[in-house]
Amino acid sequence: MKFFVDTAEIRDIREMADTGLLDGVTTNPSLIAKSGQNFLKLIAEICEIVPGPVSAEVASTDFETMLAEGKKLAKIADNVAVKVPLTPAGLKVCKHLSDNGTMVNVTLCFSPGQAILAAKAGAAFISPFVGRLDDISTDGMQLIADIVNIYNNYPNFHTEVLVASVRHPMHIIEAAKMGAHIMTCPPSVIKQLYSHPLTDKGLAAFVEDWKKTGQSIL
Ligand code: E4P
Repeated sequence: MKFFVDTAEIRDIREMADTGLLDGVTTNPSLIAKSGQNFLKLIAEICEIVPGPVSAEVASTDFETMLAEGKKLAKIADNVAVKVPLTPAGLKVCKHLSDNGTMVNVTLCFSPGQAILAAKAGAAFISPFVGRLDDISTDGMQLIADIVNIYNNYPNFHTEVLVASVRHPMHIIEAAKMGAHIMTCPPSVIKQLYSHPLTDKGLAAFVEDWKKTGQSIL
């Protein structure tokens, strides 16, 4: 399973890249606004830090402007994945850009039918938002199961399932069990995966017992 981090904060991205576990980055207009940074410069900087796909979202909603924005974003670096909304115009842009060799991440997916459309439009990634479905008392993880099953039925679909709006470690574990290709989440959720009280307790005991040997490895 590939790990993307869902943030526009350079410090967080560097920290996650240092772990050696980071495969890509996703951003969205809300995260860009929160960062207070210049969008185009920020994406260029992130692309230098992380060699994997870096999602940069278009800002318009009509076909012509989205296509022009997508082309401009794609020119920033080879690892830019242009993010488009799951609308008829967004999927048309997806098809155009994908046919020309640009990675496209189709975002705001909330149904299996939408995911089928994105795959047919040649998307490199489909982003189903599990947390936002959970928020409205709908089973977000069931959507992931459905999309993974459907995509597995069609070897000519090359779209990777990028589980988005991930809020806690169980979302990641369940998505991995289902065989989702990628998940994206804030750094805090990835950090939660490291923790287990028995790891802390076991390590403390090993450190104390090692001291009793009076030895040094180095
Ligand atoms: C993914 O691409 C989105 O940016 C993100 O996962 C949305 O998460 P949220 O629902 O927590 O805002």
